[in-house]
Amino acid sequence: MELVFATNNKNKVKEIIALLLPSIEILTLSEIGCTEEIEETENTLEGNAKLKANYITKKYGYDCFADDTGLEVDTLNGAPGVYSARYAGENVTYEDNVQKMLREMKGKTNRKAQFRTVVALNFKGKQYLFEGNCKGEITNNKHGNDGFGYDPIFRPLGFKQTFAEMSLEEKGKISHRGLAVKKLVSFLK
Ligand code: IMP
Repeated sequence: MELVFATNNKNKVKEIIALLLPSIEILTLSEIGCTEEIEETENTLEGNAKLKANYITKKYGYDCFADDTGLEVDTLNGAPGVYSARYAGENVTYEDNVQKMLREMKGKTNRKAQFRTVVALNFKGKQYLFEGNCKGEITNNKHGNDGFGYDPIFRPLGFKQTFAEMSLEEKGKISHRGLAVKKLVSFLK
């Protein structure tokens, strides 16, 4: 079975391939000739996941799935949430976002946060949504070099390491994206 994963994020592709069944062949956007950036113009994770999957299915005709992820911080009333990629502004780096988060959280005692992922799947003419979340906390400093995005400052509940100190397999077992993709895999089975 061929499925397009509608992302240009190589880290996400690595994580997803490690989680999917060998019988599912993942095509990336560049492999189907899609070089344009799909703009995330909705104000919910669900909306953006659907928008990305629909863009590919309508324009290229493939069955496809897309994910959208947000980091929701309790004491920031759920921010940055759907705006996590642009937390420090437009066209910023992961490091800019991480540094802004560390500044905003300086001195705060409630450091609870969660990652939430919504996956939208367009399959045989129908659309399905799968959600995964992972609770944890924002650390005081960066720890670890693996992963991407906010991984060096997010420590999942019950663990001593941040996501950036875990292997792909360890992160995939408990992460927001891992849990959402597990639901997608059970559905496809
Ligand atoms: P998006 O799903 O690509 O829109 O991600 C939104 C923001 O959250 C981006 O800044 C990503 O780097 C970050 N992000 C998404 N997934 C993860 C993750 O698994 N770990 C850490 N940061 C993530």
